[in-house]
Amino acid sequence: SDSLTVGELAKKLYREPSEIIKKLFMLGVMATINQDLDKDAIELICTDYGVEVEEEILVDTTDLEVYFTEDKEDLLGERPPVVTIMGHVDHGKTTLLDSIRHTKVTAGEAGGITQHIGAYQVEANGKKVTFLDTPGHAAFTTMRARGAKVTDITILVVAADDGVMPQTVEAINHAKAANVPIIVAVNKMDKEGANPDRVMQELTEHGLVSEAWGGETIFVPISALKGEGIDSLLEMILLVSEVEEYKANPNRPAIGTVIEAQLDKGRGSVATLLVQNGTLKVGDPIVVGNTFGRVRAMVNDLGRRVKEVGPSAPVEITGLNDVPQAGDRFVVFEDEKTARQVGEARSSQALQAQRSEKTKVSLDNLFEHM
Ligand code: GTP
Ligand code: MG
Repeated sequence: SDSLTVGELAKKLYREPSEIIKKLFMLGVMATINQDLDKDAIELICTDYGVEVEEEILVDTTDLEVYFTEDKEDLLGERPPVVTIMGHVDHGKTTLLDSIRHTKVTAGEAGGITQHIGAYQVEANGKKVTFLDTPGHAAFTTMRARGAKVTDITILVVAADDGVMPQTVEAINHAKAANVPIIVAVNKMDKEGANPDRVMQELTEHGLVSEAWGGETIFVPISALKGEGIDSLLEMILLVSEVEEYKANPNRPAIGTVIEAQLDKGRGSVATLLVQNGTLKVGDPIVVGNTFGRVRAMVNDLGRRVKEVGPSAPVEITGLNDVPQAGDRFVVFEDEKTARQVGEARSSQALQAQRSEKTKVSLDNLFEHM
């Protein structure tokens, strides 16, 4: 339809109806909340908010990407950076993540960690930082393949006794393709054969030139095992965040990406989500990948039950009909009916795609054996 009531338009713009009514009044139109607005009036208001009006009919409402819209500047507030740790096998990614968590999560809180969720948040100098524990693995690759950007900063871990290795280069390429700033953590500095100069030298060949050598890349020497250099690394993350100014609008329905998901015997489908914009609340009608439901319960990275979480927060949710996949997008809808419609459309599309894929595969097999 090409008309909306004032109330409906307000909802779409994440504004109070009274604000829209005031704006209309300023434009010389007297309106009430239930009044129908024609296309011209809608366009006038939207233009005023810097929002582009799309022909609803042209928008594929089952494509979750269409809900990843940008908010107007004045609705945005600061959000924590989302940091991914990458690097070659055995160079110390997991040790570093553990070390950061243990330096930054107080003993009391650590006791609250009941299960490991693939992401966590720490606080440094009063600022939150989100770390993702899915380095270079399937989820990250899927997300990248779909162009789903989740990371703001990549920490490239390079062992000082081993230097640049194939997966180091892979990680650099991932980060470059995603246009994400890289901070190099030169790890295992405590080891006998540690040679940070060699790491710097080798990385120069991949375009990462240390600030000490006149380049722009931040290098931080650390020992993840001994917990040395962790504070400097966090400081550098905050420094990059200050420059990049990561922002989000906490006052809109949540959108984001699945970090991991599985079926739990007792709780059913359990998904770890990264909220990328908006605020996610218990009770929200939500479409996640090809499944949907209502957020039944939320547990944060400390294993505590929470009622709502804001931008950049990782959170585990239950209440979905099925298990989504890592890298899937999620979108919260205002009403359950729309969530159900979009969710059902997506699940039947997925089923169809799966069927035709199976047919194709079996035909391929058939030809292979001929
Ligand atoms: P994958 O997940 O298999 O790719 O490895 P990873 O990068 O997560 O490495 P992990 O943290 O598992 O560390 C590999 C080995 O290096 C372990 O035995 C760690 O104890 C050791 N290690 C990690 N960091 C340090 C460090 O700073 N110093 C020393 N001496 N050993 C370290
Ligand atoms: Mg590991």
